[in-house]
Amino acid sequence: MSSKTSSFVQAVLVALLAALSLSWADPARARHEGSHLYAQHCSACHGADGHGGVGVPLALPDFLAIVSDDYLRNSIRFGRPGRVMPSFAHLTDAEIEAIVRHMRGWYKGERRAAVKIGKGDAKKGEKTYKRNCAGCHGPEGEGGRGTGLTFSRPRDLPVLAPALNNPGFHAAADEQLIKATLIHGRQGTPMMSFLKMGLSEADIDDVVAFVRSLGKKRAPASARVLDSESAVLVRRSPHDVATTVEKVKNAMAAANMSVIRAVPFDEGMVDKKLENRKRIIIDGCDFNFLNQALTVDPRVGLFLPCRITVTEDAGRVLVMAVNPKRLSTIFNNSELNAMCEQMHEVYTLILEDATL
Ligand code: HEC
Ligand code: HEC
Repeated sequence: MSSKTSSFVQAVLVALLAALSLSWADPARARHEGSHLYAQHCSACHGADGHGGVGVPLALPDFLAIVSDDYLRNSIRFGRPGRVMPSFAHLTDAEIEAIVRHMRGWYKGERRAAVKIGKGDAKKGEKTYKRNCAGCHGPEGEGGRGTGLTFSRPRDLPVLAPALNNPGFHAAADEQLIKATLIHGRQGTPMMSFLKMGLSEADIDDVVAFVRSLGKKRAPASARVLDSESAVLVRRSPHDVATTVEKVKNAMAAANMSVIRAVPFDEGMVDKKLENRKRIIIDGCDFNFLNQALTVDPRVGLFLPCRITVTEDAGRVLVMAVNPKRLSTIFNNSELNAMCEQMHEVYTLILEDATL
């Protein structure tokens, strides 16, 4: 490269960098980026305006008036392992900052003054917690069952009580957040002001110390997602495609599934004569299981009914299904773990029966 072109390249780079840093320094611009990033990563769960959905509401005045930017940043960065809220560790600091600025735009009121944190006694706090909090947040602080806010199915509370023993929560929250939430409550949710409910500030300091102590324990079961070796389960079949498909249907029926259809994967996409009869998908469903799973997480509709694929490639017939244990990682919902394990067993059984 000649020195002339290289100084030209340098000038362009400097200009680009300046434009980039300007765009982040300009708050209006950052909010604009933030609204895009929020729409892309958050709104599916927390709602376009932060009013909640699969995720808890974020636009509540009682929430935005007390939380620090660090709480928001770290909640985004670390998520809540096993509690549906994903970790966004792959976003850059600037992107996270833009999302936080966007969320700040939802609330124009005053921030509440910091609360005074006294020295609490976690032992006493545990008793107060059992009496006043465990009913919603769980005996170990594992949080309510289900997801955020839900519409159609029966549930205990209109807004899910978050987990208070979650490592992601403790990486984000400080005593301020916990105590201010207890003092003021969150209007519009079942979380009430415990000062108004009759707890003294000293009682509240004790509970804060107890909630804090939950973060020092080993990561609880509700913060776990299943490990799994591979994304798909595969078995080789000794039979031809048509026989294997029949065997899969029988094995599904034996596992309490109704077979919905067994068709070439390209049915409807190509002319009937051109359909690939060597690649067949078989959809089946155990409707009891589906209904049970839907009450745990409405997103299971994305992978149920169950699908098994039979395919022939270079003379080898393979039977395949997604590995349900992988879904636990993708959905980050520990409540689904038992179901994913159960489905893993059922799939394995079907694949083995069909390839006997
Ligand atoms: C797959 C659904 C989902 C997505 C996507 C998601 N969240 Fe969440 N979020 C949740 C759930 C569920 C909770 C409550 C966790 C619990 O129950 O412990 C939560 C909790 C939070 C909290 C803590 C709320 C509080 O009251 O303390 C914040 C802050 C938050 N999410 C921000 C975000 C942001 C910002 C994004 C996008 C970058 C995002 N979330 C993406 C589901 C989601
Ligand atoms: C009637 C059910 C209920 C009771 C009882 C209750 N909470 Fe909550 N709590 C909630 C809900 C729901 C939220 C989520 C509010 C929201 O969406 O911002 C919450 C939020 C919180 C938060 C903020 C967590 C976060 O991720 O933002 C803390 C801390 C908390 N509660 C502690 C307690 C403690 C300690 C007690 C007992 C003194 C208690 N709660 C009693 C339902 C309850």
